[in-house]
Amino acid sequence: MTDRIAILDFGSQFTQLIARRIRDLGVFTEIYPWNANVRQVLRACDKPAVGDGELKGIILSGGPQSIYAENAPYVQDYLLEIGVPVLGICYGMQALAAKLGGRVEHAEHHEYGLTALEIVKHNPLLPEDHLSVYMSHGDRVEQVPTGWEISASSPSSPIAAMAHPYRKLYGLQFHPEVHHTEHGKQIIERFIFDVCGCEATWTSKCIIEESVAQIRETVGDGRVLSGLSGGVDSTITTALVQKALGGHVTAVFIDTGLMRLGEAAQVEKIFRPILGDHLVIVDASARFFERLKGVTDPEAKRKAIGEQFIREFESAVRDLGEFEFLAQGTIYPDVIESQGVGDSSQRIKSHHNVGGLPKDMQFKLVEPLRQLFKDEVRQIGLELGIAPELVWRQPFPGPGLAVRCLGEVTPSRVATLQQADAIFLEELGKANLLTWDESDHTHTGSSQAFAVLLPVRSVGVMGDQRTYGETIALRAVTSVDFMSGNWSRLPYELLACCSSRIVNEVPGVTRVVYDITSKPPATIEWE
Ligand code: XMP
Repeated sequence: MTDRIAILDFGSQFTQLIARRIRDLGVFTEIYPWNANVRQVLRACDKPAVGDGELKGIILSGGPQSIYAENAPYVQDYLLEIGVPVLGICYGMQALAAKLGGRVEHAEHHEYGLTALEIVKHNPLLPEDHLSVYMSHGDRVEQVPTGWEISASSPSSPIAAMAHPYRKLYGLQFHPEVHHTEHGKQIIERFIFDVCGCEATWTSKCIIEESVAQIRETVGDGRVLSGLSGGVDSTITTALVQKALGGHVTAVFIDTGLMRLGEAAQVEKIFRPILGDHLVIVDASARFFERLKGVTDPEAKRKAIGEQFIREFESAVRDLGEFEFLAQGTIYPDVIESQGVGDSSQRIKSHHNVGGLPKDMQFKLVEPLRQLFKDEVRQIGLELGIAPELVWRQPFPGPGLAVRCLGEVTPSRVATLQQADAIFLEELGKANLLTWDESDHTHTGSSQAFAVLLPVRSVGVMGDQRTYGETIALRAVTSVDFMSGNWSRLPYELLACCSSRIVNEVPGVTRVVYDITSKPPATIEWE
């Protein structure tokens, strides 16, 4: 059993960063909406899942609101009654102060960016007497609740950190999770290990052991159909369920017609020798194109595809016999982006395997990666002995080229996109830029690269003739966890070569553009 930290999300853009920092320290943590109930936070109502373990501490995230705004999120009573240490960050500290009888007011000067923090009274979280910390707030705590002490101040926040050491309650007006805060990692480390007493047991090995045990408990003697796309997540999911259940698993690869050029054949080549008769390939391209006829809205596309996938799995089962369970490679960001974690987080897009699932689905889901970030998934893949070239494959979204073919998805538009995409990937491969490692601070290279077909025609001139053709956008990003990313600074010569080859080799394309937007504010995919 792993120790567990619960993060209550009050809507901050940094909430996921808090989770990343804690997981990087080897401790399991999960984000809950600020208004989650006690059974959720204590995991009393869930079916068994990876990461079940003793709750050792609670973190209250920052948030965009003022605690005095109408319907502002607040700290629920039970959180302080559980008896584990609590750390409030920014809005979390203000909400904690207000809850316990302190005073929070609107500050005359907002504090954004780096500011100098002076220690007033020693506090076990703060490693130095002077720190440069990242602030982002309008309100501030004016008076600490009874029994609390002021730990630190900054020029605009006389109470920039506060503590009730006896009850192990802490508040930080600044953001330790943000990279720019000096010793931020150490501050979180001190809370997690020294105050909460967690042990760093959240390792790939332990995750695999827990997953295998839980898959066995959930499935029992049942049989599992595992949706395999050839991507990292579904490959590792299939390997995990196989490790747990052996021959009770059959992998199904649905060829949607929306894969990259030559990909369906490649999946068969890689996986047939490994899975033998336990791999079933279904050519469903005609049905997917039929289902997508006339659909242009991004969310409608995602829902249609999510539903069609399930219909295909259900139909496969009619031929293959009884399968009660469907294993999917859903990962934590799919869940967060599809449904948000509470009413304070916004839904970004319905990942086909979460928000796109039909209500009348007949399967029970097995999703062993549902609590994991992408980089954790890859570590598990390596630990399971999966070939590194498969583990480090660039991610490819379940809805495939449909979300890169803006406007209507037709076989001919997808064929255009496939050709442009193949040229881009080929050139990146030749230049050795299909991979990127974290130490490359110039962000050349890419963690994910692809072409997008825009629903825009533009005028061109080819061979002295006017043309009015399609536009391809090229996208390349560097990212570790794909929750945020930077656009890749690809060499101009490479971009020039791709542009020239695409316009010359792909019929109907007359213009190529390069996407120079990071995530946020854009997302990685265009839809
Ligand atoms: P966004 O576009 O949200 O993408 O920045 C983040 C990562 O997720 C992939 N992605 C998906 N993966 N089903 C998936 O399996 C989906 O519906 C989906 N949508 C986006 C995307 O390719 C990127 O790696």
